[in-house]
Amino acid sequence: MTGGMLGMLDELTRLRDEAVARIEAASTLDDVEAARVAYLGRKGALKEATARLAELPADQRPGAGKAANEVKTAIHNALAARLQIIERVRAQTARPAYDITLPGTRRPMGREHPLRRAAAELIEVFARLGFEVAEGPEVELEYYNFEALNIPAEHASRDSFDTFYLEGDVVLRSHTSPVQIRVMEQRQPPIRIVAPGRVYRPDTPDATHSPVFHQIEGLAVGEDVTFADLKACLTLAMRELFGPQTEIRFRPSFFPFTEPSAEVDVYAEIGGQRRWLELLGAGMVHPKVFEAVGYDPERYTGFAFGMGIDRIALLKYGIPDIRLLLDNDVRFLEQL
Ligand code: DAH
Repeated sequence: MTGGMLGMLDELTRLRDEAVARIEAASTLDDVEAARVAYLGRKGALKEATARLAELPADQRPGAGKAANEVKTAIHNALAARLQIIERVRAQTARPAYDITLPGTRRPMGREHPLRRAAAELIEVFARLGFEVAEGPEVELEYYNFEALNIPAEHASRDSFDTFYLEGDVVLRSHTSPVQIRVMEQRQPPIRIVAPGRVYRPDTPDATHSPVFHQIEGLAVGEDVTFADLKACLTLAMRELFGPQTEIRFRPSFFPFTEPSAEVDVYAEIGGQRRWLELLGAGMVHPKVFEAVGYDPERYTGFAFGMGIDRIALLKYGIPDIRLLLDNDVRFLEQL
């Protein structure tokens, strides 16, 4: 035996370095366990080394014993540290942060609602004819929804424009025609506006009715605006909307705010079939309406028209039921 105590200390140091190196290289729990058995086990290297402590002279034994204990602690610590690392790696790989082999998450793009699209198209067509967009409130005063449009309180024509009544003289507007009044109160002719927006009627919902729907109103006022202008304007607009072969016809009708008044039908190809569709109400602005806003009916004339945006959307996109436009069901909206 070389060197008694010193030889013993050298051997313990070498044993510790070897054990720590092996433990740090262990990549599995089995490797760590094997290292533990090899160094700290009942027949392990440290046991063997400490067994030889007895061969040392008695005065050297305590020093060597202390060194052996320190080596044991060092190996213990190395084992514990390694187990912790292996456990951490295992936890990470068992539930990886992400799997690069999976397809990415698509964010749905969304798209313009068919009502918005139809409204935008109408606005665009009329913009090319010189009409600008005007807006008015959906919560409206009775006066604008009725009286100013020559629909007196006790008159039978009020039924056609019945609405939801809020408090006092406040209603939900039942058509976009009140915007005519609001614009004329604010401005002097010449005026050319379209007013798109939501309107309300106490109708029971079915395939063609909804208590909330959309209209676009048109108004042109000037010193010599004629019925011919109305006809030309609507013909051009309907050809832009439904194609160059489109024809329109006027049927005499009644609206309190126009005189004469007409229902306008459009002969267009819809869903591969050419047919007449009732699309608009129109007419020459009634003198009483001009009086209500302080315009001189002897000086100014004008035409007005109103149509349902929902109905145009249904026709253009071949939708069978108006309620589909308002249900907000993406399975439907995705198809358009
Ligand atoms: N406001 C009417 C309605 O709700 C539509 C209408 C008809 C508007 C004739 C007009 C018009 O401007 O001249 O049914």
